[in-house]
Amino acid sequence: MKPPKDKYEIVSEMGKRRGYFWPSYEIYGGVGGFITYGPLGSALKRNLETKFRKFYLQPLAIVEIESPVIMPGTVLEASGHVENFKEPTVGCVKCQRKFRADHLLQEFGKMTDTQTEKLDLDAVMEEIQKLGIKCPDCGGDFNKAEQFMTMFTTTIGPYSDSIGYGRPEAAQGIFVEFKRIFESMRNRLPLGVAQIGQALRNEISPRQGPVRLREFTIIDIEFFLDPEDKKCLIINEVENETLRFLLAENKQKENPEITTMTIKEALTKGIIQEEWLAYFMAKAKQLLILLGVPEDKQRFIEKLDYERAHYSKQGFDQEVYLDRWGWTEVSGHNYRTDFDLARHMNASGVDLTAFKETEDGGKRFVPHVIEPSFGLDRLVYTVLEYAYNKQGKRNVLSLPRDLAPMHASVFPLVNKDGLMEKADEVYHMLADSGFVLNWDHSGSIGRRYARADEVGIPIGITVDYQTLEDNTVTLRDRTSWTQVRTKLDELPELLCNYFANKIDFNGLGTLIER
Ligand code: GLY
Repeated sequence: MKPPKDKYEIVSEMGKRRGYFWPSYEIYGGVGGFITYGPLGSALKRNLETKFRKFYLQPLAIVEIESPVIMPGTVLEASGHVENFKEPTVGCVKCQRKFRADHLLQEFGKMTDTQTEKLDLDAVMEEIQKLGIKCPDCGGDFNKAEQFMTMFTTTIGPYSDSIGYGRPEAAQGIFVEFKRIFESMRNRLPLGVAQIGQALRNEISPRQGPVRLREFTIIDIEFFLDPEDKKCLIINEVENETLRFLLAENKQKENPEITTMTIKEALTKGIIQEEWLAYFMAKAKQLLILLGVPEDKQRFIEKLDYERAHYSKQGFDQEVYLDRWGWTEVSGHNYRTDFDLARHMNASGVDLTAFKETEDGGKRFVPHVIEPSFGLDRLVYTVLEYAYNKQGKRNVLSLPRDLAPMHASVFPLVNKDGLMEKADEVYHMLADSGFVLNWDHSGSIGRRYARADEVGIPIGITVDYQTLEDNTVTLRDRTSWTQVRTKLDELPELLCNYFANKIDFNGLGTLIER
C-alpha cells in the first residue's frame, strides 16, 4: 500500500496545480535547487515581504538598500567567505555524483547537525565507511571527502583573472556600502539597514524543494550599534515574551530538552548576551505566530562555538517544525560584532568608523552589528504548509488574510439574466478600490467555492437575483464557510477594514442563517 502523502507532497502538488510554485526548467527535465513562483506564489511572496516590512522594519525605521548580486572576489575574500564558505562532499566512484557528506551522515546515519559539524574531512570519511553508507543513486562506494566552495564563481567581463562571485548573503552589500549609507542617514547610531534580495549558494545536492535552494531571497538586517552603548531602549516591549530554547549545553544529549523562558530571564541569566539580539528574536517569534506557526512549533537553537559562522560571536537559529523535514531553520540571529566592517576597512584601506563626542573631545570607533536574517522562500513554504488543512474532502488554504494572493472572488450565481453584467460591475468597483480579485463563472457555485478555498482566497462574493433588486451581495468566509449579506455601496470600506484586521468576518454584514 502507498504511504499517505506528507504535507510537502500535498502542498507541492497543490502548488503546481494552482500556480504557487514548481521546480524550474521542468520542460528540460528540471535543475535541482531552483523554483519558479507562479501567479499566486509570486503574489503571496510579495505580500509576505510587505508584511515583513510593516512588522519588522518600519517600527524601528530600518532603512533598505539594493546592491548588486555579483561581487568582486576582493569583497568576499575580505569578508572571509572565500576561505570559509565550504561544505564537505563525497563523490561516488561509480556514477561520479557528488553528495554533501554531512547530509548523508544525518540522513543515513541519524547523526545530528551538531555531531556532523564537528567532524573534519578524515572523520567524515571514517564515519561514512563505518556506517556503510553507499551512493543513494546507484549504490556505489564513495571516494575521499573534500571541501567544496558553495559560492557560484564567474568572471567579471572577459578577464579570466577578474573573479566574481554570486553573493551568498545580502549582508556584504550593506557592509561595503556602509560609509555612504551612514553618511546619508546623518551619521546616527543605532542604524538598521536591511536588504531583501537574491542570494546564490551552489548547494551540493539540494533535494528539499523550496527549503534548500541555489537561488533564494534573503532578508538580511544589519543593526549597527556603538559597542559602548548597546542598550536596547525598547526591550520592555518584549521582555515578557517567552521563547522555547534548545540550549547549547543540552544539544549533545540524546533527548535534548527544551527550555522555555522569557526574554527578561534569558537576558538576566546571560543566555542571550545582547539586548538587541533578544529583541529581534522575540519579534521573530511574534512574526511567525502571525504567519500561522503556533508557539509549540517554533524554537530557537543556540549555536555551539564550532557551529557558528566565522563572523558570529553568539548565534541562535529560529526553527519551525515542518512535516517532512522536522525542525528547519527559517531565520538566524547573530552578533557579528565589528568583524565585517573591520575586515573591509583593513582590506580596502577606507575608514569605516563612526565618530562620537566624549569628554576629552571625541573618538572614532567601528560600529558593532546585530544581524537577524530570514530565508524568505522558507517562510513562504512554511506559511503554505501551516495554512493547508482538510475540511471533509475539501482542501482549504487558510492563509492569513493579509497574505492571501487575492482578496476575494466574484461569482455571478448563473451566467444569464443580467447577473454576469452585474458581477462585472462589482468586479470593477472593487478593483478600482485596490482589491485583487478572482473572477470565476464556470461550473456550479459549489465547485467555484471549492476552487477558491483551495487557492486560499479569503472571501467569496456572490452576485444573485436579489442583488439586482436591492444591491446586496452574499459574502462567504473561506475558512468557516459562514455567509453574510452586505450592501454593495458599503463593501469597499468594509473590506478595507477587514483586510487591515480591524473587523472580523461577522462585521462584514448580516449573518445568513442556514
Ligand atoms: N547573512 C546571513 C547568512 O548568511 O546566513
